[in-house]
Amino acid sequence: MTLPPAGRATAEAPANIAFVKYWGASDLERALPVNPSISMTLSRCVSRTTVDFDPTAGGDQVRLRVRDGEPPVDPGEAFARRVRAHLEALRRRFGLPAGAGRFLVETGNSFPAAAGLASSASGFAALAAATAAALGRHPGPRELSSLARLSGSGSATRSALGGYVEWPAPGGEPEDPCAGQLAAATHWDLRDVIAVVETGAKEVPSLAGHRVAATSPHFERRQAELPRRLAAVRGAIAERDLGRLGATIEEEAIELHVVAMTSRPAIFYWAPATLGVLAAVRALRRDGVEAWSTMDAGANVHVITSAAHEPAVARRLREVEGVRDLILDQVGDGPVVDGELVGSEG
Ligand code: DP6
Repeated sequence: MTLPPAGRATAEAPANIAFVKYWGASDLERALPVNPSISMTLSRCVSRTTVDFDPTAGGDQVRLRVRDGEPPVDPGEAFARRVRAHLEALRRRFGLPAGAGRFLVETGNSFPAAAGLASSASGFAALAAATAAALGRHPGPRELSSLARLSGSGSATRSALGGYVEWPAPGGEPEDPCAGQLAAATHWDLRDVIAVVETGAKEVPSLAGHRVAATSPHFERRQAELPRRLAAVRGAIAERDLGRLGATIEEEAIELHVVAMTSRPAIFYWAPATLGVLAAVRALRRDGVEAWSTMDAGANVHVITSAAHEPAVARRLREVEGVRDLILDQVGDGPVVDGELVGSEG
């Protein structure tokens, strides 16, 4: 077959923070979740990935941009292997023969990688968008959410869209569940003050967590709670009700970690400073500040608040022992490919 011509594209894709979490897969190979999840797409935490396709060469190469303006580095074998596997899955999806042509990938994050800040979500969404565009394809958000998930990262599916996102979107294909937008970023200006307490790679990848999730005695209990939580989060987003949203997402995050901590083997993501931040957020609420915590599979805490309360939250969190850095993020739009926002619902 004739391969597509040489092409090059750059995509920027956002991270997201889950309000209702994906934890436990019915099919881990295909990243099919046991339960729907809902997230907010972020604005400042992004991955930027450039992909060059050369139909005349072979052997994909992956480089990691640690800092802008500096030469990219070898990312290490585990990372490169995951990227190459995703490239191979994208070739299959686009009908190209295995190993056809060469992809040259350069990628980097605006935030610490693999520290529970969903670098795989933004990274694989950016990789899928840039690879498709380098091959001359321009998927809409729904198709991109399917391409991003070929990486095996379920949360990457949600990073294909901006604003408030649910995955699977109702009424989708059960075999290939895509994400859908609940509300655009402009609907509600929520802030996410991220307390960075750990900058290294997490010890236990989410994949391992999904694998053992159902061994926790709390797994089924959480599943039974989820329809109520999902409805509360959808309703709170629709009505811009921060109190209702916050109470639900904090309860959900704690329970997710209870499931992780009681699975076999047990998985602990929290660091001592995580508890310090959780206590500071409760103290903020006692002082009348609307702020609520959530954590993905890591020790860092995302504190969801309003624009009006963001400065008070940031001030208090800076004082917590063990907080190394704060990232002031907010709800944002979906991926951008070569300067263009990925189209409206595809
Ligand atoms: C706790 O399998 O999508 O963040 O690829 O590491 O992002 P990564 O993990 P994935 O599981 C996500 C687990 C979670 C909850 C969530 O984002 O829904």
